[in-house]
Amino acid sequence: MLIRIRRGWEIPEAQATPEAVFLNRRGLLLGLGAAGIAAGLPQPARADIAADLYPAKRNAAFTLDRALTEEKVATHYNNFYEFGSHKQIAAAAQKLTIEPWQVKIDGMVEKEITIDAADLIRKMPVEERLYRHRCVEAWAMAVPWSGFPLRALVDFAKPLSGATYLRMETFQRPAEAGGQRQFWYPWPYTEGLSMAEARNDLAFIATGVYGKPVPKQMGAPLRLAVPWKYGFKSVKSIVTFTFTDQRPKTFWEAIAPDEYGFWANVNPAVPHPRWSQASEELIGTGKRVPTQIYNGYGEFVAELYKDMTKEKLYM
Ligand code: MTE
Repeated sequence: MLIRIRRGWEIPEAQATPEAVFLNRRGLLLGLGAAGIAAGLPQPARADIAADLYPAKRNAAFTLDRALTEEKVATHYNNFYEFGSHKQIAAAAQKLTIEPWQVKIDGMVEKEITIDAADLIRKMPVEERLYRHRCVEAWAMAVPWSGFPLRALVDFAKPLSGATYLRMETFQRPAEAGGQRQFWYPWPYTEGLSMAEARNDLAFIATGVYGKPVPKQMGAPLRLAVPWKYGFKSVKSIVTFTFTDQRPKTFWEAIAPDEYGFWANVNPAVPHPRWSQASEELIGTGKRVPTQIYNGYGEFVAELYKDMTKEKLYM
């Protein structure tokens, strides 16, 4: 008999968007668009990549024990060093050109691929998931991402059996991103996961948020979301996925190896040299709550690390 155990972060069904409401809303949007085309009305310019895919159907397995962060708050309190080393980078990030956007999949794969981001997204099973999002600076949000499981991209890429890591890189465009003219940072922003992590159910590529394409300041057109790890692992605006047998040297690890390790799993008991991790501020609410091991996602991911006794798993 299959017994479904509700995981700690899941909320009762009634609090999720009922499917009928979702379907009606989507039907209405599609209907309005079709009516507009039929009537010969001017259609709005499609500056966003695969915008018609949103809102995506919510996957009820990934819901929350806390209210979603208000959209205005989550989209105006960001870390994106390419556009500045403070939180108010939303305006500066609008300089980023996201169309066209080529994604390269290379390294230890059957065949290297370069594909337009919109074409890639359309090949993937796009859905909505409610995730916690926790920065090592001890603030947290709750975000409705849309996108697809990273595992779907791994399968599409057909990695060779010897590949043990997936390295992900952000664009390198100092003319658009003023922060990249600060030559002392090791641009481009680079992050990585083990292949087992990349194939984990929770590892997600976000292409949308709040039922729309993901805005530039949050990492358009595609960024990683790995909610059991500190936010710096969730690399934004990815242009290259490289399969490799070498552990990638990540952006923050290159800058301060004692402060930012490769694994960076959330753990309230392991403080960062500058920030206690015991509790976190829920941005936009003024509330502090206790931090949870693996950010509350241990039932999904603890298994990944059970034999890694010699690794610094938490910072
Ligand atoms: N990705 C790139 N390319 N550049 C960055 O500076 N900052 C990271 C991560 N991804 C960063 C990045 C950090 S420190 C955090 S906490 C999250 O993005 C913030 O994501 P958000 O702004 O969408 O909340």
